[in-house]
Amino acid sequence: MSAELKTSDSSKSEGSDGPRKVYIETFGCQMNIADTELMHGVLHDAGYTQADHADKADVVLLNTCAIREKAEERIYGRASQLLRYKYENPNLVIGITGCMAEHLKGSIGERAPYVDVVAGPDAYRRLPSLLEQAGDGDPIIDVRLDKRETYEGLPPSRREGVSGWVTIQRGCDKFCTFCIVPFVRGRERGASPREVLRQVRDLAAMGYREVNLLGQTVNSYRYEDVDFADLLRLVTTVEGIDRVRYTSPYPVDFTPKLIQTLAEQDKVCNSLHLPLQSGSNRVLSAMKRGYTVEDFLRITDDLRAAIPDIAISTDIIVGFPGETEEEMQATLDVVERVGFDYAYMFAYSEREGTFASKRMPDTLSEPEKKARLQRLITLQKSISKAKYAAHVGETHTVLVEGPGRRGPERWMGRTEGYKLALFEPPDQVAPGDFVDVVIETATDHTLYGRAVAHRPRVNAAKA
Ligand code: SAH
Ligand code: F3S
Repeated sequence: MSAELKTSDSSKSEGSDGPRKVYIETFGCQMNIADTELMHGVLHDAGYTQADHADKADVVLLNTCAIREKAEERIYGRASQLLRYKYENPNLVIGITGCMAEHLKGSIGERAPYVDVVAGPDAYRRLPSLLEQAGDGDPIIDVRLDKRETYEGLPPSRREGVSGWVTIQRGCDKFCTFCIVPFVRGRERGASPREVLRQVRDLAAMGYREVNLLGQTVNSYRYEDVDFADLLRLVTTVEGIDRVRYTSPYPVDFTPKLIQTLAEQDKVCNSLHLPLQSGSNRVLSAMKRGYTVEDFLRITDDLRAAIPDIAISTDIIVGFPGETEEEMQATLDVVERVGFDYAYMFAYSEREGTFASKRMPDTLSEPEKKARLQRLITLQKSISKAKYAAHVGETHTVLVEGPGRRGPERWMGRTEGYKLALFEPPDQVAPGDFVDVVIETATDHTLYGRAVAHRPRVNAAKA
């Protein structure tokens, strides 16, 4: 940091060339994407503007993930690359925010001494003053968790889009034995329905058509006497928003009232991300997940009975401490039995501070975990292939996002079941339109087809 900035009387949001520019790079889950928008909102109010690239910025923040060791290693790698911008611009402030900041706290400065600010997920209101204090010495650290912080009243700064994220719940109270989230994100708390609705209306006014409600165990949401089913009903009343999604629900927090609400509300998408984690009851109990395989199957059966075309995806961990070959096989069996549309699959990564890291030795070698993961991926790929192939010949409504990566001949969007669809577009197609697509071919992760009907969007803001 230069002496000029450190001793400057003027606010640090104002550089010598006008407002200071911030660039935020996001790692990890959707919650972090939403938090990045929140940080942009806070910094915008403090006079910062957004830079398009890290090399054009006065402040670069890495909004980080700590869920697996690999995630943290990647972020250290990226942070060291930023050093070169610091050589070019000694005034550059580098910050680490979010879960890894909360997890590693001051030790980040020992490994990466060029990091100026370390801010946990509950410190974002204080970001402007943390950046203001950044200087040549030790990093400025704020990793205080606040069990009441829901960022009420702070408008996130969003770019135009069609599908937006709204955080309705922060933290987690489940304490699954492998998981670091409760330690780095603190206790579960719901945002007020008023705040949620304000954000959903803002999205609608910007022309968004879909909203995704976020929480670690989103269906355990509660604010005073409003539960998740009540909140979903409220959100579906917002004009201009035609699709409502939510992620991730916790298996045992599905109530009959919620299942009925999901079945009744047309705007709530028939798609569900329901983390299974393991197909072995011994492992599920060691993970403290609070359900058995039988409970999980009952829940998916109930959901499928109420919503027959529901698409179900999941998260699975292989190689949990002590997982035997039979237990691994049990997971493969349940995966086959449920028939998930797609899955996020992980090898167990020991996370310091968790119950498992203290009491359950990481017994499986990395090559063995990798081999198990590969078996699971191979099985899931074949299931996904069949699930996607089953849509060939059907017509699906797709929310249009924009041209595909390979050019304007095919546009892309998502079906109600959250499957990626590439299609020959109709004339005058635009992001935010709905199109009906006849599916002609499919791979294990993409549907291909042709648009046969087109409902252009009426932008609430411009109408
Ligand atoms: N709230 C979600 C979990 C969020 S973390 C739930 O309901 O379970 C996202 C996923 O990361 C988890 O579902 C889990 O599959 C994976 N994960 C979490 N901790 C992990 C660890 N220590 N090792 C490997 N994978 C992990
Ligand atoms: Fe983690 Fe379990 Fe919560 S996986 S986020 S502790 S539900």
